[in-house]
Amino acid sequence: MFKVGFVGWRGMVGSVLMQRMIAEGDFQDIEPIFFTTSQTGGAGPAIGRDTPALKDAKAIAELKAMDIIVSCQGGDYTSEIFPQLRADGWQGHWIDAASTLRMEKDAVIILDPVNLDVIKQSLSTGVRNWIGGNCTVSLMLMALNGLFKANLVDWASSMTYQAASGAGAQNMRELIRQMGVVHAGVATELQDAASAILDIDRKVADTLRSADFPVDNFGVPLAGSLIPWIDKDLGNGQSKEEWKGMAETNKILGRDANPIVIDGLCVRIGAMRCHSQALTIKLKQDVPLNEIEGMLAEANAWAEVVPNERNETVKRLSPAAVTGTLQTPVGRLRKMGMGGEYLSAFTVGDQLLWGAAEPLRRMLRILVE
Ligand code: HSE
Repeated sequence: MFKVGFVGWRGMVGSVLMQRMIAEGDFQDIEPIFFTTSQTGGAGPAIGRDTPALKDAKAIAELKAMDIIVSCQGGDYTSEIFPQLRADGWQGHWIDAASTLRMEKDAVIILDPVNLDVIKQSLSTGVRNWIGGNCTVSLMLMALNGLFKANLVDWASSMTYQAASGAGAQNMRELIRQMGVVHAGVATELQDAASAILDIDRKVADTLRSADFPVDNFGVPLAGSLIPWIDKDLGNGQSKEEWKGMAETNKILGRDANPIVIDGLCVRIGAMRCHSQALTIKLKQDVPLNEIEGMLAEANAWAEVVPNERNETVKRLSPAAVTGTLQTPVGRLRKMGMGGEYLSAFTVGDQLLWGAAEPLRRMLRILVE
């Protein structure tokens, strides 16, 4: 059995990974060894079987004994430990949720329902670094898999509505805290059905702008507002999150030599853990809508097509409906006013599942089987 070391299993993505691995019985097929940066010698997580005492996540000799290491510990850990391991001659497989190694030549961005061919081909040529993709990119590709498979996408513009979880666990807490402060400021008025809505609105605006509003993590209000910038400023008018759209999509699809242009604006909204995106897709040809729906629905088990009508859309195509599930529904499919080659789409997906933990879990299975 493969010895598999887990680092960063206690954090948000790591915890979702543990939940999924327990649910799928993945721990039965490996010898799991848990590492820690702070509690060496302590007890490992409850995974339904005994595991050795926690090992030091910075002990290179201990890590080197692993056949596979799965890290959800974050980019700083990867930057510090990964080069030491490889320099020391470690030949094992490194599966990582952090973005640090994503664009390296000897790394594959893993999303097997979309790029199993790239993964298999890379395995056969000796690749050993398997990195989870940016959540927005992975969720878009899961939902639109059918169109990319059919090589129908000329270009795409993705306008995102990204959840607080993408910024981290503390940001999720802050969003809820912000919601609470907004509500508390007008709780009395809300109980009085006759109170004036414009007075309530003015009070809410004052609360959002007050110096006491909790913004330690986001820097600005998210509840009752939005943030039209995610990740670093690249200095060319584009955010790093927006840059990833095209760079990572083409790397995942193995078409760096013949890239599809993907661009758009990335926006943070007050959802908890589901990213949504509105897409404008320029098709290479005017394919009938029912054929497009068929391709999307058949491409993988998770990309459900939601009929483009009001009731189904508002019920099924929202963060509230999708959160905590592996489905990546796609709807609002219609030919746009610009012509038959222009398709609109809207998709929602859980940022912690297909956007983070699930591709890692499945890569581990591919290696183990
Ligand atoms: N960068 C993403 C976000 C999350 O901020 O929502 C991780 O891919």
